[in-house]
Amino acid sequence: MQEELKVVFQRSGRSVFVLPGTALVEAAGRAGVILQMPCGGRGTCGKCRVRIVAGATGNDVARHAALPSDAFEQGWRLGCQVRVTTPLTVEVPPESTFEYQQRILVEDSGHGGVLDPGVAKCYVELEPPTQADSRSDLTRLCAALGGVTVAPELVAALPAFLREQDWRGTAVLADGCLIGLEPDDTTSVLYGVAFDIGTTTVVGTLFDLVAGESRAVASEMNGQVSQGDDVLARILRIREDASALLTLQTAILDTIRTIIRKLCAEADVASRNIYEVTAAGNSTMQQILAGYDPSALGEVPFVQVFDTAQTLPAARLGLPLADGATVYLFPQVGGFVGGDTVAGVLAARLDASDGPALLVDIGTNGEIVLAHDGKLEATSTAAGPAFEGARIVQGMRASPGAVEKVVLDDEVRLNVIGNARPAGLCGTGLIDAVAELLRAGIVDSTGRILPAEELPAGLPDTLRDRIAFDAEGRGRFILAVAAESATGEDLCLWQKDIRELQLACGAIRAGIAILLRRAGLQPGELGTVLLAGAFGNFIRRRNACRIGLLPAVPHEAIRYIGNAASLGAKLALLSAPVRRRADALRGRIQHVDLSLDPEFQLEFGMAMLFPEDAD
Ligand code: FES
Repeated sequence: MQEELKVVFQRSGRSVFVLPGTALVEAAGRAGVILQMPCGGRGTCGKCRVRIVAGATGNDVARHAALPSDAFEQGWRLGCQVRVTTPLTVEVPPESTFEYQQRILVEDSGHGGVLDPGVAKCYVELEPPTQADSRSDLTRLCAALGGVTVAPELVAALPAFLREQDWRGTAVLADGCLIGLEPDDTTSVLYGVAFDIGTTTVVGTLFDLVAGESRAVASEMNGQVSQGDDVLARILRIREDASALLTLQTAILDTIRTIIRKLCAEADVASRNIYEVTAAGNSTMQQILAGYDPSALGEVPFVQVFDTAQTLPAARLGLPLADGATVYLFPQVGGFVGGDTVAGVLAARLDASDGPALLVDIGTNGEIVLAHDGKLEATSTAAGPAFEGARIVQGMRASPGAVEKVVLDDEVRLNVIGNARPAGLCGTGLIDAVAELLRAGIVDSTGRILPAEELPAGLPDTLRDRIAFDAEGRGRFILAVAAESATGEDLCLWQKDIRELQLACGAIRAGIAILLRRAGLQPGELGTVLLAGAFGNFIRRRNACRIGLLPAVPHEAIRYIGNAASLGAKLALLSAPVRRRADALRGRIQHVDLSLDPEFQLEFGMAMLFPEDAD
């Protein structure tokens, strides 16, 4: 097997192993470092610059002409122009990342700066009452704070607090309401957590809301996974047994509590100093988190419980945060188009797109949003779990041992996560394998693995020898022989796996086709296709187009934007004005229900076929 090369990214310290020749931006994406690429990787904008700290990248200065003079000699390179040919250590300045770009865009959006959280602290020193000034405690405090509303329980606590604390202390305010009183000056201590609530994985980021900086990131498997792989399975459980709602809500809240514990331990922060949480998830995840019954999403016409943003007391959810802390859930669009889509549109600024643009978030559910002519139309389509390695004969999640990249020339070259022996196939490996087999002529456009007599005449024996059929005529392609694999068995792509990929791919492709048809657009008219989601980061653009998962657009038009829902949750945590923009977006996004489209089944059937030649 070919040796993989280690690439380390500073300042995050993240590292990946990749095959020689892998694009640096792809390696960065694998490590969760999303470089901004406004020119689509043409090497003209200069925004993706990185500094090579160790390792070699060649001396082709002309490829890096968009860099300032002298930068090349100092080790700077355009990330989009570098291929990994030796182990590398790469410094990625914050301004080269997609996340930084988005924060600048927010700052430039006229909302008065990104750091303007919905929660704030104010230290006050009050004059004690005298005979000449016998105003009430409440009036005295409100005069110092300038017009706030105070909940009755805080009014009740006020007399003792003011007298015990010698008439000084810190007021905690959220959206014009007093939510807490703290002894001494604690204005420098203010934290919040932004959550991406995925059906499979939950990610939390702890922010210092005074500095506006992230302090820790932690993730956990969604505790609901044991109750069903996908949202439909979980909705079904609740429809069958009403008590399952509490079971599922408890599971996600336990997951959130675990993540908060991890974040606090890593950043040495007390959870009582977390005052606000934002969370973006699909409709089912958001509703279960809130304790709202999602049963109506389980049948036509797929009705959500809420569409406007929800702000819930953290105490009601049993989260161990500051007194008065709240949990913000994103507004929802309709059906299965939920808060994660609104958060993604917010982060990608799809509403400000110049020309027709598509946002595709690929997961168990595929969410697709089309921006055109000042409109935003969104739909959701059940792609199933194939992209997560489920229902694939030797499938696995993208974890150490998973084949995540497949290249065929005369040989089979595999990139295995963690530089380990191959143990299984994850979603990107599956896409690569099928795309490469289509190119080699081993699989035809119907998805059939071809028998020997139908294979192209020029196919090398090294590949031909890897094709096998069982007694029932079911084909497979051997990616790694038993002696090379971690399991001691051949690692194969099976005929059944290709059918699963066709189903997953067809659902998304049909969704895209219907949105484009409704808008009267051809794929070629799309100026930009934004690929979002943890999985989207790792898909190779050329292969996604080859299997028809993405429309036939120039590969440079396809941009990775990382976990857009997570970024939207962070922006909403850091900026109350941005959160209001999310609330306004809800009204602008029109929900397109594919189940009502008479041509969906036809589109889906057609989309099951791989394009004849999409390279
Ligand atoms: S120069 Fe524009 S993306 Fe690299």
